[in-house]
Amino acid sequence: MTRYVLALDQGTTSSRAVLVRPDTSIAAEARQELPQHFPASGHVEQEPQDIWSTTLSCAHAALNAVGAGPADIAAIGITNQRETTLVWERDTGRVIHRAIVWQDRRTAPDCARLMAEGHGAKVSAITGLVIDPYFSATKIAHILDTVPGARARAERGELAFGTVDTFLLWRLTGGRVHATDATNAARTLLFDIHTGQWDGEMLALFRVPAALLPQVKDCAADFGATDPDLFGAPIPIRGMAGDQQAAVVGQACFAPGMMKSTYGTGCFALLNTGGTPVASRHRLLTTIAYQLDGRRTYALEGAIFIAGAAVQWLRDGLKVIETAADADRLAATADAGQDVILVPAFVGLGAPYWRPETRGALFGLTRATSAAELSRAALESVCFQTLDLLEAMHADWAGFGGGGTVLRVDGGMAASDFTMQRLSDLIGAPVDRPHVREATVLGAAYLAGLESGFFPPPDVFAANWRRERRFEPAMEGTERRRRIGLWREAVGRLLGPP
Ligand code: G3P
Repeated sequence: MTRYVLALDQGTTSSRAVLVRPDTSIAAEARQELPQHFPASGHVEQEPQDIWSTTLSCAHAALNAVGAGPADIAAIGITNQRETTLVWERDTGRVIHRAIVWQDRRTAPDCARLMAEGHGAKVSAITGLVIDPYFSATKIAHILDTVPGARARAERGELAFGTVDTFLLWRLTGGRVHATDATNAARTLLFDIHTGQWDGEMLALFRVPAALLPQVKDCAADFGATDPDLFGAPIPIRGMAGDQQAAVVGQACFAPGMMKSTYGTGCFALLNTGGTPVASRHRLLTTIAYQLDGRRTYALEGAIFIAGAAVQWLRDGLKVIETAADADRLAATADAGQDVILVPAFVGLGAPYWRPETRGALFGLTRATSAAELSRAALESVCFQTLDLLEAMHADWAGFGGGGTVLRVDGGMAASDFTMQRLSDLIGAPVDRPHVREATVLGAAYLAGLESGFFPPPDVFAANWRRERRFEPAMEGTERRRRIGLWREAVGRLLGPP
């Protein structure tokens, strides 16, 4: 009898492995931090070997923690930081360039050129995305154009491209399987989200040879099995989804109109729009929430690049706090008379602004400004940015239900009571925090367990979703409008006239 599903969550700043029981409780988990490299302004890289070795050693550590072996594991589910781009040699597995991380802005000039040439509308119509360095396509072309001989080798079929899911799958299966799932494929700028196929026109536009690409599968599917040498016997791999989409599944947002927001390094809000891909008129993304049995469910997504990273900046950059929890505590003591506003555009601004070249700013500093006001500004900036996304979603989708939608939150920052209360205050709507805040991990586990018969069908899983706490709006209307006005003014000053 298998006892667990093993979820592997390879995120931007850490790798994790979690053993999940049939009742969705967590039996064991292991986590390792992952170094990031910033070789130039706006460049963000990772060592492929770090991505792999931290993932593998976490998997071993989680198994060892409960004395489990391959026979105890029903299946593995993989979830991952999305868009981060790797290219490797098919015969040796050697990666030819450091992983270019989703936050990396080096291809901003390429994107600006493609936009100036008028490709934006076509690209959005096919891929649901905007032309931005965030996505994989221009990163792939950059690797092929800068590593000597790479483009010719790619055209000869000697190289393979993958986002982190695909890279881990390749390594886990000993180079036997080169595949991805529809949610990760949907983040490359190369995938037609309407047909569920790689798109020839996009491949030509972004100059990516088709021979590089992995096969695209459902999120719950047969992805092969681990190489026997890794764990002593093969373990089936049965689930895969990008981390934000896995969180949609983990939060059981299976019905149109349901919405979740995950607060990790960045913040990503996804609104389930059902079987219909809704084209955004407010610069949100249209993406695949999940694909099961060949059927795609779509989402409107708002992606903001800095959420938890703003708190990391207070801790590691400014060194005004020692732990993330300090920010929460300090923010609650901040001087109500000081209007300090942080626009955390450290790597540009994502949705709905899409300004890769913009950088961050602090407004309203006085001699009295202390770590408390900076903490409040950092936490509040995450709420303001979420508000921007939700307003765009309301404007984009009539099916929203007249404001009746409750936001389900998860991720590390969802633990912050201050932030969640302020979020509810500023969006003027309830915010639901579930018992299981590990929605990403749970989603990956669920997909693998669904495929292997370990977990029940989606409706039963959804019925088991439990709220830990609901935050209700408590801020007075005038103050709410005033604060939102301060944010809008700050962003406007940073971006200049439209
Ligand atoms: O699109 C990037 C996203 O998948 C990264 O997620 O949790 O590392 O901020 P996270």
